[in-house]
Amino acid sequence: MRLDGRVAIVTGGAGGIGRGIVRAFTDEGASVVFADINAEAGRALEQELPGRAKYVDIDIAQAGSAEKICAAAIETFGALHILVNNAHASRQAPLVDTTQEMFDLSFDTGFYPTVRLMQAAYPHLRETAGTVINFASGAGIEGQATQASYAAAKEAIRAVSRVAANEWAADNITVNVISPLALTEGVRAYIEANPGVEDAMLSRVPLRRFGDPQQDIGRVAVFLASADADYMTGQTLMVDGGTQKLR
Ligand SMILES: NC(=O)c1ccc[n+]([C@@H]2O[C@H](COP(=O)([O-])OP(=O)(O)OC[C@H]3O[C@@H](n4cnc5c(N)ncnc54)[C@H](O)[C@@H]3O)[C@@H](O)[C@H]2O)c1
Repeated sequence: MRLDGRVAIVTGGAGGIGRGIVRAFTDEGASVVFADINAEAGRALEQELPGRAKYVDIDIAQAGSAEKICAAAIETFGALHILVNNAHASRQAPLVDTTQEMFDLSFDTGFYPTVRLMQAAYPHLRETAGTVINFASGAGIEGQATQASYAAAKEAIRAVSRVAANEWAADNITVNVISPLALTEGVRAYIEANPGVEDAMLSRVPLRRFGDPQQDIGRVAVFLASADADYMTGQTLMVDGGTQKLR
C-alpha cells in the first residue's frame, strides 16, 4: 500500500488514463476525488470503489471549478496530498486552418485548469509536502502535424510545471509530468476518425502496443505520487513504449 492514507484529486477520472489512475491509486490505499463531465461513467466508477473514490460532476473549464474540486477533497477526505491534472480536450487541424476556438478549447480544458488547480491546491499541498502530476504529449514535444492548439497547450503545461517545481521545492512539493501513450476512448475516437493512423502510430513504438491506462500509466503515476519519487521534480517521464521521436 504505497499510497496508504493519501488523498488525491484526478481530473478527467471517469475515463481513459484518468480512470486508470483512479483505480491504480485506490489499489495502493489512496482516497480519490475525481472530476469529470461524464456523469454516467463517473458514478459507475464511484460505485466500483465504494468509500475510496468520490465523483464530482465538474467541468474544469468553468470558472470556480478548481476551488470546488479542492473543497470536495478536503470535505470528503480531510486533506490533499496528490493533484493529477489529466483531463484535456482538443481538436486537430493543419496550422493554417487552426481557429481561435480550437486554441480556446485546448487552453480552456488543458492549460488554464491545470494552472488554476495548482494554485487552488497549493495551500493544501504545502501542508502535506504533496505532489503534482501534470500531463504532456508527444504531440507537443515533437510538434506533430495538425496538433498546433493541443501541442501549444501541452508545452505550456510543461513550462509551468518546471516553474512550479522550482518555486515550490522550498515547500517540499514536487511537480512532475507524464507524457503517455495509452489506448483510451480519446485515442480510439482519433483512430476511428483517421484511417491508417493506428498502424502509423504503432510503427513508431518499439514495444509494439498501446499502453494500458491502469497498468502502464496508472502505476507510473503511483510511483510519482509515492515516497519513492521524493527526490524527483521538474521532470517529464516518457511513458510511451519507447516511441521513436519524429524529431
Ligand atoms: N491516450 C494517449 O495516448 C495520450 C497521449 C498523449 C497525451 N495524453 C494525455 O493524457 C491525458 C488523458 O488522455 P486520455 O486519452 O485518457 O483522454 P480521454 O479523452 O480518453 O479522457 C479524458 C477524460 O477527461 C474528461 N474531460 C474532458 N473534458 C473535461 C472537462 N472540461 N472537465 C472535466 N472532465 C473532462 C472526459 O470526459 C474523459 O473522461 C490527457 O491530458 C491527454 O492529453 C494521452
